[in-house]
Amino acid sequence: MKLETNNTQPGADSAYILDNAARETPVRFDALSAIYDRATIQHLENIGVGPGWKCLEVGGGGGSIAAWLAARVGSTGHVLVTDLDPRFLEPLQAPNLEVCRHNIASEPLPEAAFDLIHARLVLVHLPKPEKVLVRLVAALKPGGYLIDEEFDSASLRSDPAVSPGEIQLKSQIALFRLSEERGLERRWGRLLYGRLRALGLVDVSAEARLFMWHGGSVGTSLMRANFEQLHDPFIAGGHITEQELQQDLVQLDSPDFMMPSPTMWTAWGRRPPAL
Ligand SMILES: C[S@@+](CC[C@H](N)C(=O)[O-])C[C@H]1O[C@@H](n2cnc3c(N)ncnc32)[C@H](O)[C@@H]1O
Repeated sequence: MKLETNNTQPGADSAYILDNAARETPVRFDALSAIYDRATIQHLENIGVGPGWKCLEVGGGGGSIAAWLAARVGSTGHVLVTDLDPRFLEPLQAPNLEVCRHNIASEPLPEAAFDLIHARLVLVHLPKPEKVLVRLVAALKPGGYLIDEEFDSASLRSDPAVSPGEIQLKSQIALFRLSEERGLERRWGRLLYGRLRALGLVDVSAEARLFMWHGGSVGTSLMRANFEQLHDPFIAGGHITEQELQQDLVQLDSPDFMMPSPTMWTAWGRRPPAL
């Protein structure tokens, strides 16, 4: 299956602040895979993805879920994996796996084409995620499943009054401000359940996971990759000083440091036959 694209260049027509071209990206993708793949795969298994399914993996990043799907759907199935910048997807090799550079916010999708559409931590990076959700639903075959997994980073914050190790990092606040300046909805994960129901999907459910991340953990390695990549916009935007950022990076390796992760919501539903 071919997608129409405008040959989008990385960063073109996009609000995405964590460009895959940056040197921190492999650490981010490894951490996301280590922290979240197990539950993602559990959700995919629960809905019954199997041989012959036609799947779309949106914003596939490092490709671990696309590779899993390709193995799962087998030779009679097909997986189309897209990304604004697919450089980490291009090495994936499977006869039923197709990689496409595609901007989900602005480029078309085929209608009624997929048994499954999955995205993880993609729509939360888009200024108008509702519009994208409408197009994802239209791209489902009748009876097809949409699974979207997204952070809510607004509803729970570190609080040293709970545990002294829960230090509120200035870099975390800087990241929140930068996201809000770009018009991003930091509660998107939490909003998903209501949005999927409002769009007329059936069998809608949602489940959330969060962790306590300690200094030196895979979770704080994800934070480090984000903060280091955003060094320049943090400083240029006046969100944090160089010294404050360096202090936070030291905290991320401190054995006493702890932080609740953002809440990862997984929401899913299926397109009814008549929609
Ligand atoms: C935080 S990463 C998540 C990667 C992967 N889904 C995961 O959970 O491991 C976000 C990914 O979405 C891609 N992305 C961001 N904006 C996009 C857009 N408008 N269209 C397609 N992909 C996009 C990025 O390039 C990046 O690979």
